[in-house]
Amino acid sequence: MVAPTLWVAVGLLVFGVAMAYFVFATFLFGAGYQPTPRRSAERMLRYAEVGPHDTVYDLGAGTGAIVFRAARTYRARVVGVEVEPIRVLVLRLRRRLGPFGDRVTIRWGNLFRLDFRPATVVTAFLWPGAMARLRPKFEAELPDGARVVSHCHRVPGWTAAEYDPETDVYLYRWPSARNPPAESGAVTGGT
Ligand SMILES: C[S@@+](CC[C@H](N)C(=O)[O-])C[C@H]1O[C@@H](n2cnc3c(N)ncnc32)[C@H](O)[C@@H]1O
Repeated sequence: MVAPTLWVAVGLLVFGVAMAYFVFATFLFGAGYQPTPRRSAERMLRYAEVGPHDTVYDLGAGTGAIVFRAARTYRARVVGVEVEPIRVLVLRLRRRLGPFGDRVTIRWGNLFRLDFRPATVVTAFLWPGAMARLRPKFEAELPDGARVVSHCHRVPGWTAAEYDPETDVYLYRWPSARNPPAESGAVTGGT
């Protein structure tokens, strides 16, 4: 007979491996998993002045902290793209069971392969390297007037129109974000 303590140890090990997979496995793609804090998500959507006429692309949708807030509170159309299949399942379940699911599209795939041309707002909480890779794609595909809001990390080389240190959120307006800073308070730089 196997001692109960051994079962507990095996259970903890399996749980630990599962959690490590869930949080860290997607680092290589562009970021691990951490939900955007509620206040930061709210700041991002308010900075971008999201409304019913917007199409919000959440790059790396996680379990939907931004996706469902944008659809429910701001009535936007939202496309959430996520590479990790368990999170995609959670997103699709939330979409099916919650309100305003008809305004939400969930795509399972790599955000770097997405066409950003239909987006009026882009939200991101990704690793600095991913933000650097995104910049040329933003510049090639975003329509004039689009807003990019990022939690924690800048778009390197772009000038932010706003930065909120309390929630660590940057707002960029395309195409003026590629101009050097003109006003005091504009934020530029690397990561
Ligand atoms: C820090 S979480 C942000 C979660 C979400 N935006 C939110 O509001 O809570 C980053 C997410 O990006 C996903 N991700 C990382 N690289 C990706 C890629 N190349 N394509 C799609 N999703 C990616 C990760 O799986 C993770 O769920």
